[in-house]
Amino acid sequence: ITINADKVTAQVKPTMWGVFFEDINMGADGGLYAELIKNRSFEFGMPLMGWTVKGKNLKEGDALVLNRQQQQQANPRFLRLNVRNASSKNDVILNNEGFRGIGTKKGLSYDFSIMYRQASPGVKLHVELQDEKGNAIGESVLIPAESGAEWHKQGVSLTCKATVLKGKFQIWFEGNGTIDLDMISLFPGDTWKSRKGGLRADMVQMLADMKPGFIRFPGGCIVEGRDLSNRYMWKKTLGPVEDRELNINRWNTEFKHRLTTDYYQTYGLGFFEYFQMAEDIGAEPLPIINCGMACQFNTAEVVPMEQLGPYVQDALDLVEFANGAVTTTWGKKRAEMGHPAPFNLKMMGIGNENWGPQYLERLVVFTKALKEKYPEIKIVNSSGTDPNGDRFDYLNASLRKNKADLIDEHYYRAPEWFLSNATRYDSYDKKGSKVFAGEYAAQSDGIAKPTNQNNWRTAIAEAAFMTGLERNADVVNMASYAPLFAHVDGWQWTPDMIWVDDLHVYGTPNYYVQKMYSLYKGTSVVGISLNNKVVAGQDSLYASAVVDAKTNELIVKVVNASANAQTRSIQIKSAKKLPVSAINTYITNDLKAVNSFEKSTNVSPQDERIAVKGKNLALTLKPYSFNIVRLQLK
Ligand code: AHR
Repeated sequence: ITINADKVTAQVKPTMWGVFFEDINMGADGGLYAELIKNRSFEFGMPLMGWTVKGKNLKEGDALVLNRQQQQQANPRFLRLNVRNASSKNDVILNNEGFRGIGTKKGLSYDFSIMYRQASPGVKLHVELQDEKGNAIGESVLIPAESGAEWHKQGVSLTCKATVLKGKFQIWFEGNGTIDLDMISLFPGDTWKSRKGGLRADMVQMLADMKPGFIRFPGGCIVEGRDLSNRYMWKKTLGPVEDRELNINRWNTEFKHRLTTDYYQTYGLGFFEYFQMAEDIGAEPLPIINCGMACQFNTAEVVPMEQLGPYVQDALDLVEFANGAVTTTWGKKRAEMGHPAPFNLKMMGIGNENWGPQYLERLVVFTKALKEKYPEIKIVNSSGTDPNGDRFDYLNASLRKNKADLIDEHYYRAPEWFLSNATRYDSYDKKGSKVFAGEYAAQSDGIAKPTNQNNWRTAIAEAAFMTGLERNADVVNMASYAPLFAHVDGWQWTPDMIWVDDLHVYGTPNYYVQKMYSLYKGTSVVGISLNNKVVAGQDSLYASAVVDAKTNELIVKVVNASANAQTRSIQIKSAKKLPVSAINTYITNDLKAVNSFEKSTNVSPQDERIAVKGKNLALTLKPYSFNIVRLQLK
């Protein structure tokens, strides 16, 4: 293998390796969004889903869900409770099951809050966290202080005495009186950056650790919706959480094998929070907006061209929301939510997995409007996914002809496809539109089947494929694995990069591959060859190389996809002086190996120091290994 470290063949964009977030697999509600109460505002299809109201003092009609649609369109329902002579735990009780239980941590403080209305005081709320058996493990009392016809918000905190994975939540009532309740909420005190009502810190940390170049949000198919009324409407995700109108999740359905009927989007994690998270972790925000078409795998509902105006306006207003001065309509909303400085949005996606002439004609309208008003914003076009590859070809040709800035290609395929497509972009036109490999994941069995596993076989195939993305960084400007998160008790799709339960998180082998690429992305691609050819499958080897101008390193990525160890001599041509040793960060394992909560780093990188002799690096590549060798240039 020969490397010409002085021969730069492409520049690596800072956005090269990023993350794709979608509220699928309980990614947001029950996942990243740290709210622990399910159906906190009684807006789910079944108003009391997640709740049980019981107690010996409750009579028929004492617990009712009412609707005030005239006054509060976004959040119309609330619970009215008649509490009579309640003095003990058994009299009037409200239980919430949480999102597949409630994970609690010993010693952690929890913030409980409600919105309430009462004609006169008389009712106390005893708030309790409980273990699996119903024993109290955290208690507090909230005495609603205000009375009258208005709604009030009040909160109290409680400290938890035990760590429990599948805890429960209960309020038992004391006193006499009628009380209206809404937005019954409980958050752990250890949210990301300690923001009240914020995100799960351990999950955000996994992303921050990757140093992703961008974060794409909010999906995925949920951008499109099952039908247009169900599409993602970012304007409904802003402002106080009690004013954010809930939407049924597009994944609240059976997806091939699993039925999830309690999946809703509360939008507590809304567009402001996405932008804020992107800023926190140093990633460029990449919002995807509905293009006037619902999911074509579902209904194929399209908005008539003459009614496309509001959709296009949403795209224009989104730029103003992210970047506009605080004196503009949408910039003002951003400032009111606590971020007067712009979010510095540079790109936006129009549509997700949309195709056909209907997509192309709608895209033209969006593009014209955006380019006229905001020529600096790069527009991502959707080319979608297509098992046969034909759609890619036809759409790509049209999109390229129209000089798309970036074209979003998706591939969920077998590991062998990834291996044989390591050269996919070698033949792409480097001068025209750029590629965003926006969703990809090797599938160990079929596509999105429950038997699919995030095993080393899938991850090493992706690592091999990614050498081809990196080698062609002059045409592939961005790439992201998908889906990102999955809850073990609430997923619709496998494989997924990061798995969580209500307390823990672990990265799959695929996570570590993505992370290694992102951490060692370098700044420019340099030539690497085997017998004067790109290293893409000969002897089951795949390789690419970059230099990092900031750290002055040469970074060599080599995959050995064979069952045998291979020792290779790597000749390095460089005008700079080479060190006497280098660090090889590698992963090697059995192809069936996986990570789990118990063995979260079973498949993960290790470091070894290797010798450099003059201009020659003797590299022993372990069986089924992904290696990143870093040499400090002098
Ligand atoms: O990543 C899961 C789904 O796969 C996405 O929502 C969609 O874009 C693709 O079909």
